[in-house]
Amino acid sequence: MIRTEILATGIYVPPNLVKNDDLKEMMDTSDEWIRQRTGIEQRYWADENTSTSDLALEAAKKALENAKIDKSELDMIIVATLSPDHEFPGTACFLQKKLGVPGIPALDVRQQCTGFIYSMSIADQFIKTGMYKKILVVGAELHSKGLEKNQNGREVAVLFGDGAGAAVLAAKDVKDLKNDSYIYSTHLHADGNFAEELWVPGPGTGNGPQRVNDSKMNEGYHFPKMNGKTVFMNAVKRMPEAVMEALNANGLKIEDIDLFIFHQANLRINDMVAKQFNIPEEKVFNTIQKFANTTAATLPIGMDEAVRAGKLKKGMLVASAAFGSGFTWGSTIYRY
Ligand SMILES: CC(C)(COP(=O)(O)OP(=O)(O)OC[C@H]1O[C@@H](n2cnc3c(N)ncnc32)[C@H](O)[C@@H]1OP(=O)(O)O)[C@@H](O)C(=O)NCCC(=O)NCCS
Repeated sequence: MIRTEILATGIYVPPNLVKNDDLKEMMDTSDEWIRQRTGIEQRYWADENTSTSDLALEAAKKALENAKIDKSELDMIIVATLSPDHEFPGTACFLQKKLGVPGIPALDVRQQCTGFIYSMSIADQFIKTGMYKKILVVGAELHSKGLEKNQNGREVAVLFGDGAGAAVLAAKDVKDLKNDSYIYSTHLHADGNFAEELWVPGPGTGNGPQRVNDSKMNEGYHFPKMNGKTVFMNAVKRMPEAVMEALNANGLKIEDIDLFIFHQANLRINDMVAKQFNIPEEKVFNTIQKFANTTAATLPIGMDEAVRAGKLKKGMLVASAAFGSGFTWGSTIYRY
């Protein structure tokens, strides 16, 4: 039976390390405040000449190298990002050009922190139906150019880092459903009633007569706005729901999962989810301390880091869940 296997991953973060203390020059914050509230210790921010597709390209090249496949074997590219190179065309098109694989479909997914799970799910459907055999799925974010790095924006600005993670997903003729490596299932949700709880209001067509509105620009409508407490409260509700949905769909229990790789928005969110299920600490793999929240990139970065840390090995059963702007949320279970 044709199923989807995660062949390999690759990541890239820009070289410029920004520690919590470095942010004190830009806004009234402290290492203590950031660590206590979020667990973040540092993040990487790209330089002015880098774009999201540049980060995606480096991660994609590593994923292809680790998967030991040539780029010419790819049937499709999917890029999840909320920080595109340009409003249109999609960042997947720019990545495709840089990677040098013209002709194959290139699709952008705009589901924010849940973007990678949505993208995995889309790739999984194309592969399971037999339409495509190898799909490059990338989560890439360049937040630092879009953050309000001053007192006004400090609640949001301290949370986000730049980075990209890529995975090569491939068709596999699965013979042993219990032991072979493949994606068991993906589960996707959204509730647009919460769209304005975490969003960038402009530029856009929802702002009156002109897409770009100078006076709103002066008020900072192009910077992210967040109701942090509402996001937090919904995340600790929806992520466990999504984990349970995935477990139930596969007749599994928490104890059956070897490793949990959750979206990295806040260490406290992940600790609360783990506590609800009594998951032992060593079974949860977090990277937020090192990279902050890289939105669509957190899950592939988590996979790749876990592999290199020796925490994720071939044959292990992994559960992932994510929650973010939209609100969107989702989960997946796969055998790596
Ligand atoms: C943002 C978040 C860390 C704030 O934590 P919190 O517990 O709600 O905040 P607290 O109530 O403890 O603190 C708020 C105070 O800190 C201040 N503050 C905000 N940002 C600050 C910063 N970077 N440094 C120092 N102080 C800050 C606020 O002005 C406020 O001050 P006041 O009490 O004098 O009004 C938390 O709400 C959160 O993580 N939410 C989820 C965000 C998220 O996951 N976003 C991504 C979605 S995927």
